[in-house]
Amino acid sequence: MTNTNEDAVVTASSPGKIIIVGEHFVVHEAYAVAAAINKRVTVIASKNGTRKVRFVSQGRDYYFPGTLARRFFPAPSSVMNEIFERFGKCEEGMSIEIRSEIPRGSGLGSSAAVSVATAAAVTRIMGKKLSLEEISKIAMKGEAAIHGNPSGIDVETSLRGGVVLFSKSSGAKPIALEKGIEIIIAFSGKGRNTSALISSVALIRKKYPNTFAHLVESSSFLSLQAVDALCRGDLPYLGAIMNIAQPILDWIGVSNDKLDRMLEDARSGRVFGAKITGAGGGGSIIVLPRPGTSKEVIDRLEAESKYVFSTLIPQEGLKVEQ
Ligand code: MEV
Repeated sequence: MTNTNEDAVVTASSPGKIIIVGEHFVVHEAYAVAAAINKRVTVIASKNGTRKVRFVSQGRDYYFPGTLARRFFPAPSSVMNEIFERFGKCEEGMSIEIRSEIPRGSGLGSSAAVSVATAAAVTRIMGKKLSLEEISKIAMKGEAAIHGNPSGIDVETSLRGGVVLFSKSSGAKPIALEKGIEIIIAFSGKGRNTSALISSVALIRKKYPNTFAHLVESSSFLSLQAVDALCRGDLPYLGAIMNIAQPILDWIGVSNDKLDRMLEDARSGRVFGAKITGAGGGGSIIVLPRPGTSKEVIDRLEAESKYVFSTLIPQEGLKVEQ
């Protein structure tokens, strides 16, 4: 292994994501569309010369592979295990500082972003320059530690940035937009367990296999239509697709009263469309406002949510600085 010098510091940052259409069905082979957002996780890796590996977050230290590190940082811990298994341990020891702008459990891809940034920062400080595909494979270990059976869309979006059309069989295809599109995001404040939600959707598939197969097909159709609408800048149609997707997500049981209320609040304003984003069961909603109405929509959503913001898509993916 080529080692970097003792003083080297690597900073890697990776964005969170929203799913515009196709969450859950993407786990069952449908196409889905996702976009990177303007909230990021930053991981700063440095050699510490103590022969120990420690995670630093909000001023506290957690020694890896100690119980607390694994309990509080399951995604980075799984990423570290994978890296050490592939490349051997870092004998000098290292410090890995994690700073996040993305609330945990918000459905905005914090586990994918921290997995991607950790995989990139740690491998680089160990002197490895990996391809995006290799970073993705390592980051998927972190994502799987949280989500059990993830499709890979969150990791691919965080890694590559921009807007991506994704399916498990064809991977991520970047979608170029002519103009940035503003999307409003509101976190319900209620965390969710993505792994449990994925399992509960799998039970619905078992109970209603034919209906579910049609919904997987419809979800792919809506995703391809969304790509078309995004490329043409046809926001009314994009909003309509979001509004069609929402009752289907409701039927598979991933909405709840709080999210429904937030969607109602959003829709009583001047918006093209609104829906849950990500796993649901808590987490966040996304809203596509009509031009010039975003302040009004944000004000309305602030009655229900303490964490409302607007993002332009597309945003940059993984950034690594040494
Ligand atoms: C989570 O952001 C999206 C899900 O479809 C899970 C996945 O695709 O890994 C619910």
